[in-house]
Amino acid sequence: METALPQPTWLSRLNAVWAPPAVLDFWLSRLNPLWSWHQTRARVVERRLEAEGVTTLVLRPNRHFRGFRAGQHVNVGIEIDGVRYTRSYSASDMPRADGCIRITVKAVDGGKVGAYLQTVPVGRVLSLDQAFGELSVPDVSAPCLMLAAGSGITPMLALVNAQAEAGFPRPVRLAYWARTRAELVQAKSLRAIATRHPNFSVYFVLTGEAAQATDELQGRIESLHLDTLLPGDAKAHVLVCGPHGFVERAREVLADRDLSFQAEAFSPPPRLIDASDHGHVRVTLLQSGRTLDIARNKSLLEALEEQGVRPRHGCRMGICNTCSCGKSSGATRALHDRSVQHEPTQALRLCIHAAQSDLSLDL
Ligand code: FES
Repeated sequence: METALPQPTWLSRLNAVWAPPAVLDFWLSRLNPLWSWHQTRARVVERRLEAEGVTTLVLRPNRHFRGFRAGQHVNVGIEIDGVRYTRSYSASDMPRADGCIRITVKAVDGGKVGAYLQTVPVGRVLSLDQAFGELSVPDVSAPCLMLAAGSGITPMLALVNAQAEAGFPRPVRLAYWARTRAELVQAKSLRAIATRHPNFSVYFVLTGEAAQATDELQGRIESLHLDTLLPGDAKAHVLVCGPHGFVERAREVLADRDLSFQAEAFSPPPRLIDASDHGHVRVTLLQSGRTLDIARNKSLLEALEEQGVRPRHGCRMGICNTCSCGKSSGATRALHDRSVQHEPTQALRLCIHAAQSDLSLDL
């Protein structure tokens, strides 16, 4: 693993009194791609295969990165064939003394970024945003039940490691859904933690293979599993992370139990779009002075991108707030429930709202 690249102190001092133009940032990055006046960037210092189509990258950020907590996510930006892409990934380990952040990336069908990152060269510099997200184990003695499906395991791995570091001051039980054993990420390490810590147990729930080991279960999330996973833990705190359908099913199954519940979905809810959403509206971009006609049946982010505008974005599903911008006039429509907002706002998330009428946006 390489060591951190020092940034000269004269740069820090100058940066404190002078906001330099982007052109200087450009030349600085030619000297060292990790250096920047203001941008958070990170170098890939290690890459390892975790499971079928799943790779962990160890990223060493520059000095602009303000750190993260276990359970949080970061937006990672990368250029592929001249096009810039940004995607959100969870940290898959707790913060470590080396200052690096580990992300675990799955290659999904048709996904360019996930596929690219499976083989990204060590040494490549990526852009990084500050960490975000609220998923955490509450600081109380109540037992914690973690339910993870697919890539939803990544923030749970960080949380389990953080709990292990603290000696598991509360009982923690993790149920991890995957289609097959070959898709399980860090199963060996989770089993090793469970062996060392009596306060931690893990179940692997397979949906495409028969359960065999004593810590394996089978099938989709149902009350049957929760009876196994929650024997007498009436006041457990439940953390859920997985695709939208998994999170909603967990919410339904747990609805009649007296539990505190925290959930994050890594896929967006279905969009409610109907024939009345056809046509275009006029959008005025106040900062650039441009006026555009955009479609009403797409998210504002997609509709603007279609017109060649590239607003800042990350998760594209309403979690990271990177795409938030001001709206001074006009009505927007939430794509998941069709609720319409007429009031001006400073925080319109372009990725989960569509234009309902002509708009003025602070872009
Ligand atoms: S891109 Fe993350 S909230 Fe819109």
